[in-house]
Amino acid sequence: MLDPIIVKNSEYIFLKTQQGGKKGALTVLEGEKDVPFSIKRVYYITKIEALTQVRGLHAHKKLDQVIFCMNGSFLLHLDDGIRKQDILMNSEAVGVRLGPELWHSMKDFSPDCIIMVVASDHYSEDDYIRDYGEFIKYLEFNH
Ligand code: TYD
Repeated sequence: MLDPIIVKNSEYIFLKTQQGGKKGALTVLEGEKDVPFSIKRVYYITKIEALTQVRGLHAHKKLDQVIFCMNGSFLLHLDDGIRKQDILMNSEAVGVRLGPELWHSMKDFSPDCIIMVVASDHYSEDDYIRDYGEFIKYLEFNH
C-alpha cells in the first residue's frame, strides 16, 4: 500500500508491466500518455558507491520530470515549501512526478540502485534553484 502523495505538483505514475516469466518483465512508458508531458530528455544514475550521500537538493522553476527506481531502492524526499514527505522508491513500474517548484532529494541508496528520470525539457542550469532559502523566497515571490 503506497502512502498518498500530499505535496503539490506531484503524483504517482503507474506503468504497465508485461510479466514474461523467465524471459523478464517488460515495462512501457510513453510521453504524453503515461507522463503528462512530451519527453525531451532522459537521464539515469548508476554505479552509486557513496550510498550515504544525498543527491538532488534542488527544485526547478519550470521543468516537469518523473523519477523511477529501475533497480534496488532509494528514499525520495519531497518538499513543496509547506508539506514534506518521504517516499520509498523500489518499483520500476511506479514513478513519482517531480513537477515545478518541488524541492527534492534522494538518499539511502541500495548498492544495486538505478535511477531513471524523464524530463519535459533539455538541461538548463537557469531552471535550477539550488539553495533552500532561495526556494522559499521564490515561492513567496511567485504566489
Ligand atoms: P544534478 O541535477 O545536480 O544532479 P542530482 O540532482 O542528481 O544530484 O546534476 C549533476 C551535474 O550534472 C550538474 O553539474 C549538472 C549536470 N547535468 C547535466 O549536464 N545534464 C543533465 O541533464 C543533468 C540532469 C545534470
